[in-house]
Amino acid sequence: MAKNIWRVKPMSAFEADMKKNDLKRVLTKWGLTSLGIGAIIGGGIFTLTGIAAHNHAGPALAIAFAIAGVGCLFASLCYAEFASVLPVEGSAYAYSYGTMGEVFAWIIGWNLILEYMMGATTVAVAWSGYFEKLLHQCGIHPPMWLMNDPVTAAQKAHDAGIAAPSFAFNLPAFLITWVVTSILVKGIKEAAKTNNLIVILKLAVVLFVIFVGFFFIDTKNYTPFVPAAEVIDGVSHYGWGFGGVLTAASIVFFAYIGFDAVSTQSGEAINPKKDVPFAIIASLIICTVLYIAVSLVLTGMVGFKDLDIKAPVASAFEGIGMPWATVLITIAAVAGLTSVMLVMMLGQTRVFLGMAKDGLLPFKIFGVVHKKFKTPYRSTLIVGLIISIVASLTPIDKVAEMCSMGTLLAFSMISVAVLILRIKQPDLPRPFKTPFLPVVSILGTLFNVGLMFFVKPETWVAFLIWTGIGFLVYFAYSRRHSKVNQYNFEQSLGGHDAIVNASENLNDDDDK
Ligand code: ALA
Repeated sequence: MAKNIWRVKPMSAFEADMKKNDLKRVLTKWGLTSLGIGAIIGGGIFTLTGIAAHNHAGPALAIAFAIAGVGCLFASLCYAEFASVLPVEGSAYAYSYGTMGEVFAWIIGWNLILEYMMGATTVAVAWSGYFEKLLHQCGIHPPMWLMNDPVTAAQKAHDAGIAAPSFAFNLPAFLITWVVTSILVKGIKEAAKTNNLIVILKLAVVLFVIFVGFFFIDTKNYTPFVPAAEVIDGVSHYGWGFGGVLTAASIVFFAYIGFDAVSTQSGEAINPKKDVPFAIIASLIICTVLYIAVSLVLTGMVGFKDLDIKAPVASAFEGIGMPWATVLITIAAVAGLTSVMLVMMLGQTRVFLGMAKDGLLPFKIFGVVHKKFKTPYRSTLIVGLIISIVASLTPIDKVAEMCSMGTLLAFSMISVAVLILRIKQPDLPRPFKTPFLPVVSILGTLFNVGLMFFVKPETWVAFLIWTGIGFLVYFAYSRRHSKVNQYNFEQSLGGHDAIVNASENLNDDDDK
């Protein structure tokens, strides 16, 4: 019994999955890259840059972005190899199933729920914040209890010295979740088109910030580049270590989450083995360069202690006599955050689909694809329901930290898994090979595990409870319903050659 949990899903089973693919193959190389950028640029750059620079890194925000970017680059190179070998929609979950065994795959799948679902939840709350700013710019001031979760509403009431509302509900976060859910139920093609438009707008505004903001840089703001470490009210700020640049790196890590979501779209890619690895790496590199440039511009335009914490990018242009630019940036942020939600929720339903196909989740709920729309509509509706409820009732920092925690674990495990697959199956055809193994694998693991130690202790507790619930579900349901035994039987008939053949067949299918 216990050895069941270590069973590995063989390549022949992935091949069978590919053949059963009910999803439409519509995504090109740049369509996938656009999805990646759509998933990456969002709350991290538009919101978290303020806190990271103001409280921790100062002008060295750019260094924090570079550190987080390099760590993500290691993980992305590992993701890219897997995506080229196993172009299936389950992403990190599927990769670990093919290498490390079922129980690891389950843990990753369970944690990807944190990444995608809590990521989308975080962004829904951030969206609500920017939407409120937009309403204010139009002279509309809705009541606080309708724009915030109960905890945030009570906090704001306390800060304002008024009584806390007896009821509070973040209505914009709730509504935007259902708008995105409806788009996703209707279909990936429509979603991809919407996403492309938003990505263009988002990129245009980021480039605007870089090129226009450049002329308003005052180099005096860069001194000191790394502010000296100090303790304010018992809390460490600035310097390099805790409270400083590295803490800022752990905060802005959130800004990079999303490049891996590209790998969940393999089932919808026209040429997944070549285009998905390309899109993963291209979208990450493009965003890293943009983030570093935006950081340099922002901290050059405004002294880091004067940076706005809630909407730093939009607010930086208020002080230079360009109020219209603030409105433009706010609009782009609202649209840009919508596209992040789109890809995160899409990723979540595709991971569920992969798990349902393997029997680890009930197929009738998570695997059924709509006959007309060709989308996993039931799963999408459930994901929408959960996100809309959590987003309307929970403060942003709680969900954001859970999201980062789950993602860091997934990135660490994928960095290990790529090495395991190289050792166990060195002859597999790999259209993309992670360079400099095992160095990249070791650094990817060390970096991502290292960043987990910068996350708050209470988040660790919540994370361990979540993992415990995951194990309960696994042993109560998933282990017994797993379909992998039947694959292992097929594999035992063919052995290693069968795996290599199966993988070559996969390549042939793609080349057609
Ligand atoms: N990287 C995404 C964002 O910043 C999650 O919103």
